[in-house]
Parts: sequence; C-alpha cells; structure tokens
Amino acid sequence: MASYLVVGASRGIGLAFVKQLSANPQNKVFAGVRNVESSIHLQPLLSRPNVHAVKLDMTNLVSLEAAAEEVARINNGKLDILILNAGLTGSGKLFNDSTYDEIIEEHSMLTNNVLGPVLTIKAFLPLISQGSQKKIIAVSSANADTEFILTIESGMGATYTATNAALNAYITKFSVQYRQEGIIFRSICPGLVDTGATQDPPILDQSRYEPMMKKLKPLFPDFKGPLTPEQSVDMVLEVIDKTTMADSGTFVSHNGNKEWL
Ligand SMILES: NC(=O)c1ccc[n+]([C@@H]2O[C@H](COP(=O)([O-])OP(=O)(O)OC[C@H]3O[C@@H](n4cnc5c(N)ncnc54)[C@H](OP(=O)(O)O)[C@@H]3O)[C@@H](O)[C@H]2O)c1
Repeated sequence: MASYLVVGASRGIGLAFVKQLSANPQNKVFAGVRNVESSIHLQPLLSRPNVHAVKLDMTNLVSLEAAAEEVARINNGKLDILILNAGLTGSGKLFNDSTYDEIIEEHSMLTNNVLGPVLTIKAFLPLISQGSQKKIIAVSSANADTEFILTIESGMGATYTATNAALNAYITKFSVQYRQEGIIFRSICPGLVDTGATQDPPILDQSRYEPMMKKLKPLFPDFKGPLTPEQSVDMVLEVIDKTTMADSGTFVSHNGNKEWL
C-alpha cells in the first residue's frame, strides 16, 4: 500500500498509471492534470474512492504550490512515490529542415520537460521526505541513451532527446544530494508505447508504425511492436517496486535494464 502522485495523468501513459495503481484499493492515487474538466479519459476513474484529481501545471509555481498543499492536506503531509510522467514530444523535425524560429520554438520544450519536473520535485520534496518509500521517478526516454541513438541511427527529435538527457542528469545529481536523507531518484523509459487511443483526436491506425518496425526489426529481432500503455505501466511499476537506494541515480528501461525495446 502506498500513496502516489502521477504528473500528467490526463491521457497516455500517465492515465494508465492512475488506472493500474488505483485498481489496488490499498493505494491512494493523486492524478495531476493541467485541466481536470477537460481530462475526459480520467473522468471515469475519479469515481474510484482512492483517486483524487489535482490541478497541476509543472511550469506554474502557484499551481505547483497549491497542488502540494492539497496533497499534503488529504494525505497527512506525506507522499510515498512521485511519478514525473508529464512531457511534450515536439515536432520531431530534423535540424536540417528547421528554421531559426522553429529551433527557438522547439527549445521552449526545455522549460516544460526539464524545468517543469525540477520545480515539481522542489514542490513535493517536503512531502516525499515524510513518505515511507521516498521515491521520485522520472519517466524518461531511451532517446537519451547515446548508444541507443547510434544503434538505431535516429537523428530526429533532437530537442526532445536533449530534454530527456538533461532530466536524467538532474535525477542523478539529486540522487547524490539526497542519498543521506534516504530519498531515491530514478529515470525509467517506458518503452515504445502506443498512446494513440487517448490522443485528441484518437489515432488508431497501426500502420503508422510500419516504417519504424521495418527499421527496428533487423536490429532487434525480438521486438514485437509498441506496447499498450497498460503493458508498459505494469512493467514500469514492477521496476519502481524493485528499486532500492542501490539503484538511485540510474537510468533504466521498463525491463529494469538497458534493453530499451
Ligand atoms: N509514448 C512513448 O512511446 C514514450 C516513449 C518514451 C518516453 N515517453 C515519455 O513518457 C511520458 C508520457 O508519454 P505519453 O506518450 O503518455 O504522452 P502524452 O500522451 O502526450 O501525454 C503527455 C501528458 O503530459 C501532460 N503534460 C505536458 N506538459 C505538462 C505540464 N507542464 N504540466 C502538467 N502536465 C503536463 C499532458 O497533459 P495535457 O493533457 O494537459 O496536455 C499529458 O497528460 C512523456 O514524458 C514521454 O516523453 C513516452
């Protein structure tokens, strides 16, 4: 039994975290979303007595402080596990095809994907330090693993990749800083996950993965294609569960190692 805050719970992987975690009535799950009313996929889960929607924008200090106060009030000043799942993926455009303006525009993702989680950690550290598990998990991406980039020869999404690499660096630095206080930090990649069903509008056409599969299959013969959010989250939750202080500061996949697919 534990208390969790899932940041970015309106759709995709974050929504699946809330769904799977709250299936255990012993857990208390805070679903952090920018807009509770418009989070239509989350709404049905709010009837579960152990799910609490919390309005939270990672880049807004007023919102973060109000969210931390609300969680503290409902959960006696503590939180066991913080899951920093929220993030933007950007256009994925190649550098060569981007104008100066587009590069600058994409760069704003650093504010959302790097500064956002860092501010969120700052807001919730007092609650985590009172929790029984004291775990802070950043949902990162295999894109931040340089060997993986070179293996799959992917030059796309450089800014998104940079945000994941920077977030991982923060997680490792914080792990060192907070080791004595017993707070565990870890970055985990959820694998390749098809979140199309909860996009607006939904994207259900699986054929969009065909070119990617063609490229990845020869490199990773065992790779069977994207995971569902539920499959990914089950695996990530197992990794979180097994994570101890000995793992603090590391970056692993949903397999609990450096197998990214
Ligand atoms: N899907 C994959 O294959 C994959 C692979 C590797 C890593 N990841 C990582 O996994 C995480 C979740 O991915 P996903 O595919 O589920 O993404 P998604 O479907 O696009 O959902 C992103 C979530 O982040 C929220 N969000 C964005 N900025 C926010 C902010 N400033 N404050 C609060 N919430 C914010 C969004 O909320 P709104 O509804 O308000 O926009 C939404 O709930 C991301 O960090 C992504 O980089 C995904």
